[in-house]
Amino acid sequence: MTSQPIPADRAKISLCRTEEIAEGSVVKVEHGDLVLAVYNVDGEFFVTDDLCTHGPGSLSEGELYGHIIECNFHGGQFDIRDGAVAGPPCMDPVKTYPVSIEDGRIFIEL
Ligand code: FES
Repeated sequence: MTSQPIPADRAKISLCRTEEIAEGSVVKVEHGDLVLAVYNVDGEFFVTDDLCTHGPGSLSEGELYGHIIECNFHGGQFDIRDGAVAGPPCMDPVKTYPVSIEDGRIFIEL
């Protein structure tokens, strides 16, 4: 994974260390008002909002199948690569964030 320079109008936020997210798992990380789900799929990291777009489900408490997260509330699914709905009853995509890795830390851009 390469990291590109961040434009001046964008914020870069450090979330956690890579070793805190085991392969094949998802962990909730809070930063200020942000509540995020951080995923590790075969050593590649992805970040989405933690709140399901369908209701009160927390995606970090769901089941991760490859790049698909299944909400444990009603079984809705999202592709964590782009946030697209992958299974009903969800209708709206979940927000995703650009991820970069530096010195073993996971960053997102806002
Ligand atoms: S709250 Fe996530 S599928 Fe309903």
